[in-house]
Amino acid sequence: MSSVIKKFRITKIKNSKPLISLNKISLSFKKNHLILDNLSLNISKGQVIGLLGPNGAGKSSLMNIITGAIKPNFGNIIINGEDITQYPIYIRTKKFRISLCPQIGGFFADLSTEDNLKAVGEILIKDTKSRNLKIEELISKFELDAVRKVEAKFLSGGLKRRLTISMSLLGDPEILLMDEPLAALDPQTIQMLQNIIIKLQSEYNLTIFITDHQARDLLVVCDKVFILANSKIVAEGTPNEVMKNENATKHYFGSNFKFK
Ligand SMILES: Nc1ncnc2c1ncn2[C@@H]1O[C@H](COP(=O)(O)OP(=O)(O)O)[C@@H](O)[C@H]1O
Ligand SMILES: [Mg+2]
Repeated sequence: MSSVIKKFRITKIKNSKPLISLNKISLSFKKNHLILDNLSLNISKGQVIGLLGPNGAGKSSLMNIITGAIKPNFGNIIINGEDITQYPIYIRTKKFRISLCPQIGGFFADLSTEDNLKAVGEILIKDTKSRNLKIEELISKFELDAVRKVEAKFLSGGLKRRLTISMSLLGDPEILLMDEPLAALDPQTIQMLQNIIIKLQSEYNLTIFITDHQARDLLVVCDKVFILANSKIVAEGTPNEVMKNENATKHYFGSNFKFK
């Protein structure tokens, strides 16, 4: 599978216009404890950008700085050249088409697959006919038909992820933030989700920002990777570049890391 992915990567890597820029972002929840320290990064349109870092490094916080759920203490968030730092969540969602697929939850446990899609669809898509069409498109694309009447709490880990990803696409986002979508799953499910992520990039023309605390599964889907450790970006580049980067080895991979 990795050879298919690599061939695909080469055609996509050309476009380098920044869609999202984080400029000099600092964040602390408690005084004198910086989670993010003067951090800057650019995300190009149409790319799959990975954010790797140990547990507690600040990856989810950084995603929520982009959605607007967390306000940074300093710094700006620019999208398409427009400073959105002061914009509330709903404007970021509506105008800039940002969608988050959260690390935990993201669905109503007591609702069926179909009712989860309906519940969020009713908020995002006014017209009943287009809403139902979109829901059916997602059920088919994510192969959820067999479980459409099953309550989300009874779904396997992989199906739960497929449901949350499908829900995050209801509003036709342009930017999809995926917080550890590959964590705590079996190898086959991880491979299936990796294929889904790559298809999302090509079929929906999405810009995808995706985190993981574990490198091996994430690196195969990314065009570019940032390594977040000790409150800073310690390395950035293509997966091959960061794997050779001394700072990345020192602060994140460790000297025994080998990419299969
Ligand atoms: N709302 C909050 N209040 C206080 N501390 C928080 C809050 N959210 C996250 N933290 C702390 O910030 C650090 C980074 O958290 P997080 O962004 O969830 O890291 P990651 O996603 O990389 O595991 C952790 O030490 C966490 O305990
Ligand atoms: Mg997290």
